[in-house]
Amino acid sequence: MKAGIVGATGYGGIELFRLLREHPEIEAIHLYSSSQAGEDFTNIYKHLNSQETIVLEELQPDVMKFELDVVFLATPAGVSRNLTPDLLGGSAVIIDLSGDLRLKDPEVYEEWYKKESVSDHILKQAVYGLPEWNKEEIVNAKVIANPGCYPTATLLGLAPLIKDRLVEPHSIVVDAKSGVSGAGKNPNPMTHFAHTQENIQIYKVNQHQHIPEIEQALHGWDEAIEPITFSTHLAPMVRGIMSTIYLKMKEPITESELHERFSSYYESRPFVRVRQEGNFPCTKEVYGSNYCDIGLTLDPRTNRVTIVSVIDNLMKGAASQAVQNMNLVFHFDEQAGLLRLPVYP
Ligand SMILES: NC(=O)c1ccc[n+]([C@@H]2O[C@H](COP(=O)([O-])OP(=O)(O)OC[C@H]3O[C@@H](n4cnc5c(N)ncnc54)[C@H](OP(=O)(O)O)[C@@H]3O)[C@@H](O)[C@H]2O)c1
Repeated sequence: MKAGIVGATGYGGIELFRLLREHPEIEAIHLYSSSQAGEDFTNIYKHLNSQETIVLEELQPDVMKFELDVVFLATPAGVSRNLTPDLLGGSAVIIDLSGDLRLKDPEVYEEWYKKESVSDHILKQAVYGLPEWNKEEIVNAKVIANPGCYPTATLLGLAPLIKDRLVEPHSIVVDAKSGVSGAGKNPNPMTHFAHTQENIQIYKVNQHQHIPEIEQALHGWDEAIEPITFSTHLAPMVRGIMSTIYLKMKEPITESELHERFSSYYESRPFVRVRQEGNFPCTKEVYGSNYCDIGLTLDPRTNRVTIVSVIDNLMKGAASQAVQNMNLVFHFDEQAGLLRLPVYP
């Protein structure tokens, strides 16, 4: 199978390259760059084998859509809006890692992303690719909107309770933290080492573009859910997301019932690992892997549930989830090319 990566020079792109290189079903990988076409990729990323020359290609959607089986768009918001229409109509499946195709309402996209939305016609074709919860739709998709990193961690932490409408609709608060690679390759004053090292910073308070994405999925599961409070923090680490979720249940539940519910929901979903009672995951325990680890507890004093969900933002939050989606669309083993243990320490 032939795969293409647009935005290969970015952090999501280089991670996709690493995964696809080892994928048993991928025979050829084409890398595209809007700014460095003609350059040798191994000169940009020196950790690759420098004995080999991998030339970055110019974007040619008319050719790519017939020659490739799958195209990953690892590009900033606003790019796939222009590229997707040109890439459709051939044989290639499109998997978009940006937020351009995730929100079903164009007005909501324009409000939160401050950019013009892709057409309604394209949005209708795009399937939200959270494999643990909508595999049936993904297997028939031609266009996949790969979920954002914060939404992946948060939705996997919430789904087992929201799907069964067990949560007080107004009670959800999410306190989330991310490593610096979540902001992409280009440094800025906020992600500069001198600023991030020994520092923790809240950002985009009540304004993060992942808020409507999380709420859209929650409403799909339980339309009564009210707006959530969702705060994002930049943590002094390279990779990792931790979403700490607080909520109240509609009806009393015991700690063991809570665990039993999560364990049975995720039993058949190999990339979500539910911790035993009293055990909470940290970001290092999923580093470099496609796993989402979840720990949870009930505070009997406040009757509030705390759920801790961790992922690697570049893996389950981006590239490896995109490969998981590819596996499903092409009817490969869902775990093909993804069965690596986290890197520890
Ligand atoms: N970083 C994460 O943890 C993460 C997680 C989930 C989702 N995402 C999403 O994935 C996408 C990529 O993120 P990233 O972190 O990999 O960003 P990045 O490191 O900034 O890389 C983005 C790449 O896109 C390419 N690009 C920029 N403008 C372009 C244009 N006009 N046309 C075509 N290509 C263009 C650039 O490569 P060239 O100049 O070589 O073309 C650049 O290297 C973003 O939408 C991001 O929100 C990121």
